[in-house]
Amino acid sequence: MIKLGPIQLEHPFILAPMAGITNSPFRRLMRKMGSSLVVSELVSANGLEYGGKKNLELLKFHEEERPIGIQVFGERVDLLCKACQKAEQLGADFVDLNVGCPVPKIVKKGAGAALCRNAKELEKILKAIVKSVNIPVSIKMRTGWDEQNKNALDCIKAAAEAGVQWVAIHGRTKAQGYSGQADWDFIGEIKSKSPLPIIGNGDLVTAEITLEKYHSYKVDAVMIGRGALRNPFIFKQAYELWKNKVFFAPTAQDYVSLMQNLRILLNENCSAFMAVIYARKFLAWFSSGFRGCHEFRKNVFTIKEPETLWNEAFLYFENNMHSRNLDYISQPFLMGGHG
Ligand SMILES: Cc1cc2nc3c(=O)[nH]c(=O)nc-3n(C[C@H](O)[C@H](O)[C@H](O)COP(=O)(O)O)c2cc1C
Repeated sequence: MIKLGPIQLEHPFILAPMAGITNSPFRRLMRKMGSSLVVSELVSANGLEYGGKKNLELLKFHEEERPIGIQVFGERVDLLCKACQKAEQLGADFVDLNVGCPVPKIVKKGAGAALCRNAKELEKILKAIVKSVNIPVSIKMRTGWDEQNKNALDCIKAAAEAGVQWVAIHGRTKAQGYSGQADWDFIGEIKSKSPLPIIGNGDLVTAEITLEKYHSYKVDAVMIGRGALRNPFIFKQAYELWKNKVFFAPTAQDYVSLMQNLRILLNENCSAFMAVIYARKFLAWFSSGFRGCHEFRKNVFTIKEPETLWNEAFLYFENNMHSRNLDYISQPFLMGGHG
């Protein structure tokens, strides 16, 4: 059993939050596909106070997602506490503070990765948040602001002092954005000195790499973001390798079942129009490396009619998933995000 505060997980493979992507249907899908826990995309504490329905929508989740955390971001401690209380009222299992978002609009206001610049200030904010709720509080951060200020350990000690229960760490500095490689040596060093459980994150694009980092750096758990978009079977593969030392190779039928599930979940949650918009993105990512994926993507983005879109996708995966060119793994992918 893996322990994150009071939450017990069967295995250490966790879906990373991704704004605009890890919505409730996709989180449900990934729980079915083997992620042991899920976290919402970042939700603005200011937006919840002053904004409209859209921010509230982001707090919604389904029972099947549990254990589920709601991630909040902001710079005002009073609004952060209110946002966390709202998440608790709605039944979230934990709240997570975003301390890693490098997006200029957010950082300029003092939120996201800017919160790691001053560990003492961070401690004060976290103390207030921890006091305001009865559910566990976690943070997700980067290694530091820039190469000269890799102060993750100071922030983690401050977080522990404040009563935070675990930390997820993306192995890049804020200044790096998504360039270069995640620094797993640094994550390992932090883990060896951290008073809190550490979830390591960054560039886990295959089950083998995931296991290698998990074992080499002795982190408590690992988070997989972009890797799960191009390989939605990565959690199952990592689990099988970890537990039974066997490699799980998905069949065409596995892909068809995955897409049938996705279709049901999207239709349950979104308007017909939005379901098609999301489906196109996911199908395009899932096709990475398969024969004819470029033509398939072009095709997918022109189809408007849901029935035609899904039938096209079923046919494509049935016919082409047997030959995958793994070169896609080393190609840059989604080089921007909120953490
Ligand atoms: C499109 C996109 C959106 C993201 N949104 C969030 C977010 O809302 N909150 C967060 O903490 N991290 C966010 N991230 C960062 C990821 O959780 C993760 O830390 C990062 O992508 C590195 O992991 P990976 O290499 O496994 O993708 C986002 C990343 C991407 C690519």
